[in-house]
Amino acid sequence: MNLFINFVYIISAVLFIFGLKMMSSPATARQGNLLSSVGMLIAVIVALMNNGLDYKWIILGILVGSGVGAYLAIKVEMTQMPEMVAVLNGFGGLSSLTLAWAEYHQQPEMPLFVAIVTFLSILIGGVTFSGSMIAYAKLAGKITQKPVTFKSQHLLNGAILGATLLAAVIFCVNPGSSLGYFLFVLIALVSLAFGVTSTIPIGGADMPVVISLLNSYSGLAACAAGFVISNKLLIVAGALVGASGIILTQIMCKAMNRSLVNVLFSGFGNTATSADGNAAQGEIRPASAEDVYYLLEAADSVVFVPGYGLAVAQAQHVVCELGELLEKNDTEVSYAIHPVAGRMPGHMNVLLAEADVPYDQLVEMDDINARMDNVDVCVVIGANDVVNPAALHDESSPIYGMPIIETHRARAVIVLKRSMNPGFAGIENALFFNSNTRMYFGDAKESVQALVAQFKNN
Ligand code: TAP
Repeated sequence: MNLFINFVYIISAVLFIFGLKMMSSPATARQGNLLSSVGMLIAVIVALMNNGLDYKWIILGILVGSGVGAYLAIKVEMTQMPEMVAVLNGFGGLSSLTLAWAEYHQQPEMPLFVAIVTFLSILIGGVTFSGSMIAYAKLAGKITQKPVTFKSQHLLNGAILGATLLAAVIFCVNPGSSLGYFLFVLIALVSLAFGVTSTIPIGGADMPVVISLLNSYSGLAACAAGFVISNKLLIVAGALVGASGIILTQIMCKAMNRSLVNVLFSGFGNTATSADGNAAQGEIRPASAEDVYYLLEAADSVVFVPGYGLAVAQAQHVVCELGELLEKNDTEVSYAIHPVAGRMPGHMNVLLAEADVPYDQLVEMDDINARMDNVDVCVVIGANDVVNPAALHDESSPIYGMPIIETHRARAVIVLKRSMNPGFAGIENALFFNSNTRMYFGDAKESVQALVAQFKNN
């Protein structure tokens, strides 16, 4: 039986790895997701074949968990996806914590190695759970999005971590003693507190990066829990989640030109409500649907640059329709994808895939920038920071150094947004005042619908 279980676990691990690989391209991401899910399903079935399990509680857990999960997944809006991921990460951490708790409760006398991984499971699981709940609350606007900072905060966090490590050493030396049980509870409580104190200083602006990091933590917690119960597949799956989460965190930091240390300790989100000192100035040139239609109709090449506003307006289907109309008009159409456009990794890819935009029309930032000087019209749809030229030359700007889609180099730029309000970073955008930029104000979906109507009526 053991041989069979291990064999199935290997198959599951292979399915996870291939699934992850396929998720790196929009064309194969769905199948990759399915493959990984099948891997997890067969792993769960095989794990349940172990003797001596109390099935009634397991079935109840599956029914309640699946019911709540399905309800939330159906109800969640695309723009709320980071909140959903935060909650899921948090529950992953909580389950590692409770699993370690249950094992310790059953068998307090444990070898040193098991005591160490039990401690890690509690520490990382606890931090992941409470940190994710704070991240969720910040993103959902349930608590202030601003960084909550106070004097000696880093000192306090350092002291909490130091005390936890000290308690861990005493716990691991003699976990079975009555002091061991007290320390165990203490470590669990302090870990939960540490998740809160280490997440509140980070602004809502940086929460997606934090969520990706917490995702990595939840994998590490699961990995430690796998060692606690000697489950090889949990170790492998946890390590894969831990590694992929940290890689994604790095990619996001790099695309925002920030270091992880800067994200965790700088309180960047503070800038979100105040425009920077170098406010862009000049005249803006509003355009009507008709003006934009004439520009697009005459263009040989059009590049759409989608951003967060596209997701808010849910304009992806109508943008795709406009793209098709332009192609019929012999215009070359592309969609320029910035790695951190929107509010979650791959946000624009997901939206455009949902609208069946052909994958070969999606162009990465570096590739589109290389040919930007020859683009006739760039249509910026609900994007702001990712096209802000201040990132290139204004050293005082909070986004200085972030690579952008250089729409200002195109022959003409049309910006679709509702007002002159800033985007995520809370700063003005000089692009809107350029002589080759026209502002087409309104909700992105309604604005694009008006353009589609123009094409159909002319
Ligand atoms: P933003 O800079 O946030 O700008 C979005 C713009 O969309 C706003 O200026 C807003 O202007 C407009 N908008 C909102 N609703 C709209 C609607 N219904 N119709 C038309 N326009 C609408 O977005 P971006 O350019 O995509 O940049 C993303 C930002 O998020 C970057 O600063 C990035 O660093 C940050 N970030 C991203 C991620 C990931 S992984 N994607 C993670 C962390 C942080 P109005 O209000 O005037 O309409």
